[in-house]
Amino acid sequence: MKSAALLSLVAAAVAVPCTPNYPTTTIAGIEVVDTQIVRDALSLIKNSGLHDYVVKHQIRSWLFGAQQLNNNATLKSLVDPEAQAVTILLHDLGWDMSTDSPWTTKDNRFEVDSANGARNFVRGHPDGKKWSETKVQQMWDAIALQGAYGLASHKEPLVWGSIQGIAVDYRGAGVFGINQTIVDQVVAAYPNDDLLTGTNETFKWFCETKPDTTYDTWVEGWGTYFVPGYDATGHRQVDQFRTVF
Ligand SMILES: *[C@@H]1O[C@H](CO)[C@@H](O)[C@H](O)[C@H]1NC(C)=O
Ligand SMILES: *[C@@H]1O[C@H](CO)[C@@H](O)[C@H](O)[C@H]1NC(C)=O
Ligand SMILES: *[C@@H]1O[C@H](CO)[C@@H](O)[C@H](O)[C@H]1NC(C)=O
Repeated sequence: MKSAALLSLVAAAVAVPCTPNYPTTTIAGIEVVDTQIVRDALSLIKNSGLHDYVVKHQIRSWLFGAQQLNNNATLKSLVDPEAQAVTILLHDLGWDMSTDSPWTTKDNRFEVDSANGARNFVRGHPDGKKWSETKVQQMWDAIALQGAYGLASHKEPLVWGSIQGIAVDYRGAGVFGINQTIVDQVVAAYPNDDLLTGTNETFKWFCETKPDTTYDTWVEGWGTYFVPGYDATGHRQVDQFRTVF
């Protein structure tokens, strides 16, 4: 009896996860969590070598992600909005094309550079040091899997709940519960006219400067279509299986 009661308590605790009540503020009409680590993540990207279009992309994506939680109480109970904010705000650190970038390496895919950068930021932050290892791990996974919807949509709520916000910035209103009113209001504050060109330039740069990190990934297409001399043939897993008759 006693252990049954205990078990049902444990089950209840697992079934109804609760996220802390964070202080909030409003940006572009969207209520967002307002804690020191979020403010610091924001100022990190604003004062970095990242191009303005990346900074704005990360901010808009955060606002969309926050609104998705505001729209859906169930989702809000499952996704820690502070961790979601930091995850989304730092998800493209590896897009830093400056020569002295603290994040971009020659050897890693940009998702790994970004995920490592975000993890170092959290682990080095006085408040981030209090994050559970699970939370840090899920942030890392979300950033690493940002382009792999087919995998990420089956991961933990923080993972998919972060990527959904980023997805809206590319796909626009009508997906993942964000309507045109919200998109218009966010884009008015943080214009997105440079998003596609900026992303395009960055992905071409990966294919030009560190092609080995792009073969057999979703970035490969930018090399194939747009970068003269780029050829993934021989570098893909399928090449091992080709038979020349
Ligand atoms: C709210 O979020 C939950 C958890 O992700 C999801 O199952 C549900 O479909 C969402 N509701 C709406 C209306 O989108
Ligand atoms: C758009 O979404 C917001 C937030 O969910 C909601 O308050 C608003 O009524 C919606 N607007 C329209 C036109 O559906
Ligand atoms: C991407 O770059 C290619 C090659 O430079 C160009 O043809 C294409 O129009 C660009 N697309 C965008 C959206 O900037």
